[in-house]
Amino acid sequence: MSAVAESKRITVPEIMAHKGGTPLVCLTCYDAVLAKIMDPQVDLILIGDTVGMVVHGMKTTLPVTLEMMILHAQGVMRGSSHALVAVDMPFGSYEESPAQAFRNAARVLAETGAQAVKLEGGVRMAETVRFLTCRGIPVVGHVGLTPQSIQALGGFKAQGREEAQWPAIEEDARGVAEAGAFAVVLEAMAEPLAAKITRQIPVPTIGIGASNACDGQILVVNDMLGLTPHVPKFVRRYAHLGEDVAAAVASYAADVRARAFPGADNTYAMKKAGPAQ
Ligand code: KIV
Repeated sequence: MSAVAESKRITVPEIMAHKGGTPLVCLTCYDAVLAKIMDPQVDLILIGDTVGMVVHGMKTTLPVTLEMMILHAQGVMRGSSHALVAVDMPFGSYEESPAQAFRNAARVLAETGAQAVKLEGGVRMAETVRFLTCRGIPVVGHVGLTPQSIQALGGFKAQGREEAQWPAIEEDARGVAEAGAFAVVLEAMAEPLAAKITRQIPVPTIGIGASNACDGQILVVNDMLGLTPHVPKFVRRYAHLGEDVAAAVASYAADVRARAFPGADNTYAMKKAGPAQ
């Protein structure tokens, strides 16, 4: 056994124990560098399929592949040692059948070392959630606005803003919780609906554009760091890295064009010659 003790990651039961307690701090992440910076502060890191949009410039999450998710998750795992890490199942990798979902989710966990997967959908995915959880794969559910169904939903619109829509969304959250999901993401829905679902289901809800009554909150890290040009109403920017990067690149460009970079301290002098032999 190594002399240096392995640091212990947060576990699924520890996440579940936050129900009704201290809110869970969750963020998306897609690489080892940011993972290392955020890891000590967060309870759960999600390799979201938003990677397609905020890293690869795709218009939706639909073209994201299992291979992309695995590659990004491997980086995040290398950069982190404390937070629980969950990986989004991308569109087309789990909807066909519980067996397809198991095969691909098992591959994600085996090839990345992540602890859980997340999949979108409520009642319609409950059988699949049960199939995975009964076979040892921890699952995070995701209801409300489910971006992989963007074509059917007709756009990125908040859900449940009319009370008549509530029962179906409540049933979705209950359905995946009863099927064994250990937490459920509530995305972009009317605030009182998210608060009601949080009271109704026995596992932690993780809100994004939902309610501060949720058992935890998640944001897309590029949005909260100010790296994306347009952000939805529910994002709070905690930094303006996009502006910082633009200013840094402008300074660098000016220095290069003026031959002010590299300076003497950035270049290598010749070694001093030794005494002749
Ligand atoms: O893909 C993602 O980043 C997500 C979060 C928005 C929860 O699912």
